[in-house]
Amino acid sequence: MSADWPTLQPATPPVPAPAAVPDARPTVVLTHPILEPGPTVLKEACELRILPNQYRHPPELLRKAAEGARGMVTQLMDPIGDEILSTPGLRVVANVAVGYDNIDVVAATKYGVMVCNTPGVLDDTTSDFAFALLMAAGRRLLEGDRFVRSGAFKGWAIDMLLGHDLFGATLGIVGFGRIGRGVARRARAFGMRILYHDEQPATPEVEAEFGATLTDLYRLLSESDFVSVHVPLTATTRHLFSAAQFATMKPTAVLVNTSRGPVVDEAALAEALRTHQIFAAGLDVYENEPEVHPELLKLDNVILTPHIASASVRTRSRMSEMAARNLITGVRGGRPPNIVNPEVFNQQR
Ligand code: GLV
Repeated sequence: MSADWPTLQPATPPVPAPAAVPDARPTVVLTHPILEPGPTVLKEACELRILPNQYRHPPELLRKAAEGARGMVTQLMDPIGDEILSTPGLRVVANVAVGYDNIDVVAATKYGVMVCNTPGVLDDTTSDFAFALLMAAGRRLLEGDRFVRSGAFKGWAIDMLLGHDLFGATLGIVGFGRIGRGVARRARAFGMRILYHDEQPATPEVEAEFGATLTDLYRLLSESDFVSVHVPLTATTRHLFSAAQFATMKPTAVLVNTSRGPVVDEAALAEALRTHQIFAAGLDVYENEPEVHPELLKLDNVILTPHIASASVRTRSRMSEMAARNLITGVRGGRPPNIVNPEVFNQQR
């Protein structure tokens, strides 16, 4: 055979790619400690990559941690954006919280990553806490405690630390989802008149059940003695409460926020409290957590708690377990019970 004619080799059939079999024990990242039984549930099914115990991880550390991982259990201080969600092989991000504004869900959906949260289990615990703040701020509970400890209490006085009654007052609930309704349920027992504001009106049956009346925000703020905020943080709810809203409220009104800090413009709130444009406030969340606006720290008529509205032993444990189970279901190829972008799962079928 002439050297000009190379020998034709029989065509080698392409080797079929191995079928994508999920790892028996996929690697998952735990960005912060969670409560039992969460870790036990995770360890039974996955290899855990546990990050150093620090409040805010450097972005590069989070990004590197995601490499080779199929899932991540995250918390609200973990910003999960494009650079993490685009990691090849990452399938699930399970947030240990009902809110998930720390996760770019649009990017997650683009990269086919399922995002999960922990709704339902924390509703009553959070509603209890919001109600505790309404009562404590309205009746000046912490001022009273400081007064006694400082040695200033010299005996009963008719005008000492006067507050405002919840009983029979009007409560405005901004955001009438599960937690807002939980607050309404408690308020009914206090004989409160209930107004609510929400993008989605409740059904007439729900309104009747809670004795709640839908209003626009202006009317709610101008008529309410107490206002409790229960909206998620979105582009439209950021600074929903600012100078104009405080100017609309009664000088006797109390504002409580247990949702997300940036819903309230802290500088404007501090000014409204300092000038007694409103009576008092109770805040569990902050614009730049864990920092608190320095003007708020100077005021007596605001109660400041460290984002603990869902912090009961039982609820935090249930949130941990729920996140672990969401994650495991997702990394095994199933549909997590609390997926917030179900279109990702449907696309994969
Ligand atoms: C806590 O803030 C939560 O969103 O669950």
